[in-house]
Parts: sequence; C-alpha cells; structure tokens
Amino acid sequence: MWFRLSLVVFLSVTVFSRSTEAIFNINLNSVRSAFTATDCGGRNAALRFNSVSVTPQPIAMPGTIRIAVNVEIVRNISQTMSAEITVSRRVDFGFLGHTWFDVTPPCPPGQQCRTDMCSIINNTVQSQGCPAEVIGNGFTCTCPPTMGSYVTRSDLPLLVEIRERDLPHQIIRDLIRGTYKIRASMYDGSGSSVGCFEARFGLVPGPNRPNP
Ligand SMILES: *[C@@H]1O[C@H](CO)[C@@H](O)[C@H](O)[C@H]1NC(C)=O
Ligand SMILES: *[C@@H]1O[C@H](CO)[C@@H](O)[C@H](O)[C@H]1NC(C)=O
Repeated sequence: MWFRLSLVVFLSVTVFSRSTEAIFNINLNSVRSAFTATDCGGRNAALRFNSVSVTPQPIAMPGTIRIAVNVEIVRNISQTMSAEITVSRRVDFGFLGHTWFDVTPPCPPGQQCRTDMCSIINNTVQSQGCPAEVIGNGFTCTCPPTMGSYVTRSDLPLLVEIRERDLPHQIIRDLIRGTYKIRASMYDGSGSSVGCFEARFGLVPGPNRPNP
C-alpha cells in the first residue's frame, strides 16, 4: 500500500514537473545541425534536385556557406525563373514535441510575392561578374539555366557569402539561433511550376562580429 502510494506520488510529481517544464520551457533556439534537402517538385518538374548539401553545419551567419549540388534540368525553362519562398521556424515544447511556425517576411504591399531569381542573378553578374567556382564547374551564369546536368566537383563547392551588412541589427541577430525550414517553389516566365525544393537546417550567429 505504501509502495503504491509513493509510486503514484512519484509519478504525479514527475508528470507535473515535466508538464510545467513543457509549459514554461518553450524553446525557439534548439539547433538541429543536420542539413536535409528534399525535392518537393512533382514528376513533371523541370528541375530535379538529386542532392544538395552544405557546410558548415549548422550554418553560421555572417559567414561563407559552401554548397554542393547535383541538380538536373530536364527541359529548357522559358524567359525567367521566379521563386515563392516560405520560411518556418521550429518551436520545441519539451516532451510535448515540436511544431513549425511561419516566419516568412511579408511581401511588400502591392508587389508580387514571387522573387525573380533571374533579375537578381543578372544584376549580380553585371556588377560582380560570374563567380570563378561557377565557371570552374563548367556552369554558366546565363539565367534561366539551360537544360543539362549540374553537378559540382567535390573540391569546388558553390560559395554564398553572407556579410555583416546583409544581416539585421545585432540584437535581432542574436535571436536567429534555431532550426529552420525553407521551401522554394519555382516558376517560369509564364507562371508555370518548374520545381520545388525544401531544406531544413540549423542556424547560429557567425563568429566575425564587431566589438561591442
Ligand atoms: C535549350 O536552350 C539552349 C540555349 O538556348 C539551346 O541551345 C537548346 O537547343 C535548347 N534545347 C531544347 C531541347 O530546346
Ligand atoms: C537575364 O539575362 C539573360 C541573358 O543571360 C537574358 O536572356 C534574360 O532575359 C535576363 N533575365 C532577366 C529577368 O533580366
């Protein structure tokens, strides 16, 4: 009898403390370091993301992200390529599990929510030239890219540099630590879907910060 009572007390205390922990320990900042990428395009997609991997993991911002890709483009994409991007952030509720909530920046009023990737790429190439590692891999900076196989050499990843000035204010930046999910649905110039890509990754503030 004493044994059963103490077991009940023990179990309820345990359950109580774990549920208070769950209630008061909502965690936005858990970092799952593994980068995972999935192709969410249908069978008719022009873009096939066979594999995409990044280093470092977790991704540090500011910092340089190295990207290895194995992407196939099975037919020419007409006119341009735009992307509709949604960003979600992971929230943990202790033993109750986790959920994702939408943190996509709102679209500017009166503007399309689709980002024209080719205008961004064309403008960047016009001001800075086509990056050496793109040319080194035998790719071109023509946008939209023509049909073909795009596989980076193991010693020549694509580089994306996120600089100090690309990021929001320091105080906001300290809050970026967490796990994120990004989904990009891509369209051609006529608005037809050409592919979809989803990635999950951890994000931490980068090391190269100014002195306070
Ligand atoms: C795809 O576009 C390239 C460059 O414009 C062209 O050379 C090629 O013939 C096109 N291929 C097909 C199948 O349309
Ligand atoms: C980007 O440049 C290519 C030539 O490389 C051109 O055909 C295309 O129309 C341009 N697209 C945009 C959106 O500026």
